[in-house]
Amino acid sequence: MTPGMAGVPRAAVDRARRLLGEAEHVVVLTGAGVSAESGVPTFRGPGGLWKEHRAEDLATPNAFARDPRLVWEWYGWRRRVVRQCVPNAAHVALAAAASDRDGFRIVTQNVDGLHAAAASSPEAQALELHGSLFRTRCTRCGERRDDRADVDASSVERLPRCRSCGALARPDVVWFGESLDPDVLGEAVELASDAGVCLVVGTSALVHPAAGLADLTRRAGGDVIEINVADTPLTGSATLALRGPAAAIVPEILAPAALE
Ligand code: OAD
Repeated sequence: MTPGMAGVPRAAVDRARRLLGEAEHVVVLTGAGVSAESGVPTFRGPGGLWKEHRAEDLATPNAFARDPRLVWEWYGWRRRVVRQCVPNAAHVALAAAASDRDGFRIVTQNVDGLHAAAASSPEAQALELHGSLFRTRCTRCGERRDDRADVDASSVERLPRCRSCGALARPDVVWFGESLDPDVLGEAVELASDAGVCLVVGTSALVHPAAGLADLTRRAGGDVIEINVADTPLTGSATLALRGPAAAIVPEILAPAALE
């Protein structure tokens, strides 16, 4: 087998390119792995723990009700880490494809804003299923606000507060046990159901409903292409699984044909 540029067999790269080229609609589902090479820690891989806490234990309404200071301290740390990160070659290639091609849409579980940072046009904006690290939402009046500031989590009194009503603000992200915004989820379901190809990049595919989107494409007769450094529950049913880092493989399978 001839390896391609990313070390993936050439035949698999060519097949992915052909499937992506032939599909009228492509939906891309990304997870933390697409940002790994930008320096954003994934949730479940090495470095996924923060001070011994698992994401599942902190990213919950109960954890916030019990100890808002601890949860904000974690989000403040994540903001600081992510603010220093820039989009990598995978974000850039995906944004270019979404700008250049009708019917190419990005849906992300990530709250790091790196797809948005790579986007040069409104079409390239990702649908953010789980919200954003850089937005707060009031726990009383629900007002949302963009907020990239450092978080002072030294005491509950100093935590971010709503500028309208003064109540405690929370990160505007979807936590375990909470529902996704129905409009956002509805749009993602529609995109996945209509797609000829669902390209799944860097997700452990363990968190639903996001993980179920690829199955919608498959059950409607479309193909699933997975890019990941490891196997996931989706691997067995995928048309094609390309093993390796997203920043190397994504640009290779999306490069314009003229560059071959
Ligand atoms: P995970 O941390 O669960 O999974 C990251 C995936 O990326 C794993 O399958 C890795 O093998 C893969 N990976 C790591 N480095 C990679 C690389 N360089 N290139 C390609 N793949 C790579 O993250 P998610 O699947 O995004 O939810 O997690 C899903 C949700 O669970 C998150 O949105 C978050 C989390 O808890 C909430 O906070 C609600």
